[in-house]
Amino acid sequence: MASLSPRAHRTMKILFIGDIIGHPGRRIVKDLLPGLVEEHHPDLILANGENAAAGFGITPPLVEELLDTGIAVLTSGNHIWDKKDIYSYLDDHSDSRLLRPANYPQGAPGRGLYVGKSRTGIRYAVMNLQGRVFISPTDCPFRTADNLLAGLPADVKIRIVDFHAEATSEKVALGWYLDGRVTGVIGTHTHIPTADETILPQGAAYITDLGMTGPYDSVIGIDKQSVIEKFLSQMPARFEVAKGDVRLNGVLIEADPSTGRATSIRRIMCK
Ligand SMILES: [Fe+2]
Repeated sequence: MASLSPRAHRTMKILFIGDIIGHPGRRIVKDLLPGLVEEHHPDLILANGENAAAGFGITPPLVEELLDTGIAVLTSGNHIWDKKDIYSYLDDHSDSRLLRPANYPQGAPGRGLYVGKSRTGIRYAVMNLQGRVFISPTDCPFRTADNLLAGLPADVKIRIVDFHAEATSEKVALGWYLDGRVTGVIGTHTHIPTADETILPQGAAYITDLGMTGPYDSVIGIDKQSVIEKFLSQMPARFEVAKGDVRLNGVLIEADPSTGRATSIRRIMCK
């Protein structure tokens, strides 16, 4: 690498890894991330880790384990509250690189915005928001984004939003709403990758869902037989993370750090 100092017209590369599911998801990140770094040289690696602990939630040791792989910031979503240890972790680490959705009502542990500097010296912000359609209701993600963006320093041009939401319409709407104010609006939560990655007219990279990093021989990461049985019986069922056909899904975004506008987005799927 020639230099670690920021350069005015250098492209910033951001790798965003889709929802990491349980042990198979963590394993494939450890196995494949070094090769992805070697191939693409990302300046910044982000991932959604809300299902890293056996498919439901994340624990403090798993936060550290994932950050040790080179991920700079972990986002999350509705499952952030599944493991009780994470409450005090979020409370005790005011500078945590694990985010929870910013639009939970006031008083929730943790925070949904991180401002940092890439290893190449470029300042960036990561914002985590949660949808309100077909998912637990929270405060308005659109207005929460307005408020957080208004408080960001002007020199933080690179701004990535993880919109953890179920409804495609809500995700598309937020993409249009934030275009021109952020570098990317990246959808997570459904665990199914969508083929609509694009650069919106004012420079926001957009995709409705990254898809998961975990076992695809499953129903969105869970052992398929137990999910089918639950649909048939409508009775409570025990869900365990599946094992087969493990894939890493994500996107690689290129952006101009002097403007914050994205110039390209492409899907990455590897196994
Ligand atoms: Fe989720």
